[in-house]
Amino acid sequence: MSLSVVILAAGKGTRMFSDHPKVLHKLANRPLLQYVIDTAKKLNPENIIVVIGYKSKEVTSAFPKENLNWVIQKNQSGTGDAVRYAIPHLKGSQTIILYGDVPMIESYDLKELIKKNPKGLGILTFNKKNPKGYGRIKRNQNNIERIVEEKDCDNLEKKITEINTGIMCADTRNLIQWLSLISNNNSQKEYYLTDIVALARKEKIKISSHEAISEDTITGINSKIELAIMERAVQNKKTNLLMEQGVTLIDPSRTDIRGTLECDLDVEIDVGCIFEGKVQIGKNVKIGAYTHIKDSIISDNAIIKPYSHIDSAKVGINNIIGPYARLRPGTETNNDVHIGNYVEIKNSKIGKGTKINHLSYVGDSVVGQNVNVGAGTITCNYDGVKKHQTIIEDNVFIGSNSQLVAPVTIGAGSTIGAGSTITKNTPANELSLSRAKQTSIPGWEKPKKK
Ligand code: UD1
Ligand code: CA
Repeated sequence: MSLSVVILAAGKGTRMFSDHPKVLHKLANRPLLQYVIDTAKKLNPENIIVVIGYKSKEVTSAFPKENLNWVIQKNQSGTGDAVRYAIPHLKGSQTIILYGDVPMIESYDLKELIKKNPKGLGILTFNKKNPKGYGRIKRNQNNIERIVEEKDCDNLEKKITEINTGIMCADTRNLIQWLSLISNNNSQKEYYLTDIVALARKEKIKISSHEAISEDTITGINSKIELAIMERAVQNKKTNLLMEQGVTLIDPSRTDIRGTLECDLDVEIDVGCIFEGKVQIGKNVKIGAYTHIKDSIISDNAIIKPYSHIDSAKVGINNIIGPYARLRPGTETNNDVHIGNYVEIKNSKIGKGTKINHLSYVGDSVVGQNVNVGAGTITCNYDGVKKHQTIIEDNVFIGSNSQLVAPVTIGAGSTIGAGSTITKNTPANELSLSRAKQTSIPGWEKPKKK
C-alpha cells in the first residue's frame, strides 16, 4: 500500500484575532503546522499535500526546507472543497486527511486507521463528554451511516457523544469519485468532506473507525486560550519525560522547553527557566531560577545562578555562572571558571580557573588560565568599523575599571593597575598602568553658596 497525506490549512483562524495565518501560531516555539508535517512524515507517505489559502505566501515561506506540495484553495467553501484541490497530486493508493490546526495528533492512531481498512473508508473518532461543535457519528446498530454536522443535527443527534475528529483515510480512487459527487446543500452552504461517509455507505464500501488515544491528540486550536492550554499540555509532556529520566524540576508547571533539553544525572532546575533550541546539560548541574539557555552545552557540576542568559555557548566543568551573567554566542569556558553578576562575554575563550566576577565586558578575546579580571573591566573590541581581538595570557591580574583597547595582548603573569587604559601590549610579569598620578591640593576650599 502507498499513501498520500493531505493537510488542510487554508483557514484564517478568525478567533485568533491575528494578522498571521492560524497554522503559523506557535507551540513550544514551533508553528502548529510543523507538528502536523512531522507526524505526517512518520507515515512514510509518497507525498504530503498542504492546502492553504489565507496568506498562503506567509505559510509557504515558513517551511523553506520541507518537501511539500502546496496547493491554494481560492475560496474556503468547505473541507470537501479543500480536499478537491489536492486531487492532482494524490500519488498513494490511500489518502489520509489531517488538519494544520490539530498539532498533537499521534502517528500511532493514524497508522491504526490506515491499516485497519485499506480499501475502504476509515474515520478517526473520539468519545467526547461534551460533543458540542463537532460532527456526530451516526450509527445504525454498529454500522456507521453518516456524519451529521452540529449545525445540521436534530435534538436526538445532538446527544450523540461519538464525534468525528475530522481525520479520515480512504482509498484514493474512491475518494476522488466521492469528492465529485458531494454538494453544498446544507445549512452552511459548504462542501462537507464528511458527506463522503454516506456515499461510501450507499456504495457498500466498508466504513471503519478507530478511536483516538486521548483528547489532546485530536484537539484543534481556534483561540489564544486554546493555544495556551495546548502549550501547557506540550510542556507537561516534555517535563514529565525529563522527570522520568531523573531530572529534578522544582516546579514543572514553571519550566518551559522550547526545543530539546537533554540532561545527565542529578540535574536540578529551579522555577521560571526557559530552554530554547538544543540544550545539553551534564551531571550534577544546578540551574538557578529565571535562567534562559539557548543552543548551549553546560558541563558537569556547573552551577548557573539565577537570571542568567546563555546563548550558543559552552560552559565548562565546575563553572559558577551568574547571577545575572550573560554568555553570548561563541563563549567557551574551560573548567573551574567563575563568571559573576553583570558580566557579558561574547565570542571568547576563557581559560581554566579564570575569574571574571563583576560588571565586565569581554568580547572577541582569548583569556588564559588563572586570570583574574577585576570589576568593571572592558575589552574595547570595536573601533566603529571593525572588531579586534584581545589576548590575556595565563596568570594575569587585571585591576578594576581597566579598559583593554584591542588589538592588544596582556603578557603572561603581568598585572594591570586599576583604572588603566591599555593601548599597547604589556610585557610578561610586570605591572603596567596608565593612570595619572594622584595629587591633592592643600588648602583647597569647597565653593560656597552666596
Ligand atoms: C469539521 C468536520 C466535523 C468535525 C470537525 C473537527 C466537516 C464538514 N466537518 O468541522 O465533522 O467534527 O471538523 O474539528 O468536515 N478548511 C480548509 N478549507 C475550507 C474549510 C476548512 O482548509 O474550505 C480547514 C480549516 O482551516 C480547518 C479545518 O479545515 O483547519 C476544519 O475546518 P472547519 O470549517 O473548522 O470544520 P468544522 O466546522 O470544525
Ligand atoms: Ca473547526
